[in-house]
Amino acid sequence: MIWAVIPAAGRGTRFGGEVPKQYLEVAGQPLIAHALDALLSHPRIAGAMVALSADDTRWPGWSERHGKPVLRCVGGGERADSVLAALRALPSALADDTLVLVHDAARPNLRAQDIDRLIAAASEHAEGAILGAPVRDTLKRADDTRRIAATEPRSALWRAFTPQAFRRDVLTHALEAAARDGVVVTDEAMAVERAGLHPTLVEGREDNLKVTTPADLALADYLLRQR
Ligand code: C5P
Repeated sequence: MIWAVIPAAGRGTRFGGEVPKQYLEVAGQPLIAHALDALLSHPRIAGAMVALSADDTRWPGWSERHGKPVLRCVGGGERADSVLAALRALPSALADDTLVLVHDAARPNLRAQDIDRLIAAASEHAEGAILGAPVRDTLKRADDTRRIAATEPRSALWRAFTPQAFRRDVLTHALEAAARDGVVVTDEAMAVERAGLHPTLVEGREDNLKVTTPADLALADYLLRQR
């Protein structure tokens, strides 16, 4: 059994504007609808748990899509708090070793082949798997005045995307430990790494972009309309 978890409790303040970014529209529907559809149209995924902010007034009230349940819960102050809240709110009948795919609400252009490859990797590696891509630009380390202090070797460096796939119990314990230690983790893998595990990287499509700026929104709109 595989479930999707979608943290969507961010206020999208980096984007600017009134509308939280998960509700910005591209190709005819909000980003979060594209994210949900990509996951729930996949035959292996049984349902989705969405974490929303307590003062969310825009959730369209979906309780199912593609004939599968869409459940919701209240998220937290940081992304990791929202994911942990969603994991705790999953139906209690789900087994501890249920595979969960955590996916940003703001990544609308996820393809089925990437989900297939991620699920295959996570089924083989008990420590989990994430989508990502090797870094292609040259990386500079800056000093406090923005002068270049060093050029970093990039050959072993990857960018982390979502979905990120873990056993529900493994991820829950890892996020609880990070919260207890007061460490803010910026993705799920970081919490699992802190627990001493080594999730596997699966090379995913570069066009699985996270919408962060207005330019990303225009690009996502273009990519989705080409499909
Ligand atoms: O801000 P950023 O793009 O990193 O957010 C990634 C995802 O995490 C978004 O879908 C956002 O809604 C979600 N998030 C959350 N709870 C927070 C902060 C972000 O669910 N407190």
